[in-house]
Amino acid sequence: MKSSFADIREFIELLDSRGQLLRVKDAVSADLEISKITDAESKKPGGGMALLFENVSDGGRRSFPVVTNLFGSSDRMAWALGVEDVREIERRIESIVSLAPPSGLGEIWEAAKKLLPLARILPKKFRGRLAPCQEVVEVGEDVDLSQIPVLKCWPRDGGRFVTLPLVFTKSPDSKRRNLGMYRLQIYDKNTTGMHWHIHKDAAHFYGEYKAAGRRMPVAVAIGADPATIYSATAPLPRGMDELLLSGFLRGRGVRLVKCKTVDLEVPADAEFVLEGYVEPDELRLEGPFGDHTGY
Ligand SMILES: Cc1cc2nc3c(=O)[nH]c(=O)nc-3n(C[C@H](O)[C@H](O)[C@H](O)COP(=O)(O)O)c2cc1C
Repeated sequence: MKSSFADIREFIELLDSRGQLLRVKDAVSADLEISKITDAESKKPGGGMALLFENVSDGGRRSFPVVTNLFGSSDRMAWALGVEDVREIERRIESIVSLAPPSGLGEIWEAAKKLLPLARILPKKFRGRLAPCQEVVEVGEDVDLSQIPVLKCWPRDGGRFVTLPLVFTKSPDSKRRNLGMYRLQIYDKNTTGMHWHIHKDAAHFYGEYKAAGRRMPVAVAIGADPATIYSATAPLPRGMDELLLSGFLRGRGVRLVKCKTVDLEVPADAEFVLEGYVEPDELRLEGPFGDHTGY
């Protein structure tokens, strides 16, 4: 198996080749229908299959497909991280963390062999001509979020929510970067909510922007390679870049490209990127939203 995936498509191909992907060809709605089918599938023994909805009836004029339940079994979760069993990652971490200070040339060489590959995990600059995530760029009045098939999951949800977004932010002095997963409620064609709990890293950056009276640039990637998606959810110590975790899991750094309208970088191989700002004093009601915690 591949030890890392360039993008979400490679992972979907792997699931297909291992008989773990069910293609749904019938027309289905992003409004409650996809979530209902997914809910039933995911509750099957072993977590059911990953589902690729190829024909989303209300998904906008470009009719993008929707994939769900990708990480819905222990096997698929391990494969997403490039291993057959997540304990392999535990062993890799242990072998680095348990390194005793080397004494003598032989031990220095052995330690170097373990540590040198870590240089590969740093994020890389995208060097190609056109980053996949920037093949189509829409700005200003052309931006229309209804073109992306964002799901409404539960009847009493307040609307449609992007629930697996990779939210990229930086501190006002640009010295610290954060990648977190904070859901976005779609309010209208070019406005979303930004639901970061007050103790989350990006919320701390937001406090710094607010204190400085500046609006905060934000970039959101939707659909990236699975290790990077996972890393966005990892509660790393504040100030530690989640992209290093992603690079460690993948065994190679994530390719980053500069955003078009804000001073941030995003994974070049993402499916969609939203760029915008959070205003320092703009608050709105968000939800209701049926979270996995049951309310
Ligand atoms: C599917 C999913 C959705 C999440 N949605 C939110 C959210 O809306 N708001 C939030 O503050 N945390 C949310 N979390 C939890 C954060 O992603 C998690 O606490 C992460 O560590 C935050 O990154 P940070 O530590 O860099 O702030 C979500 C996690 C998952 C797996």
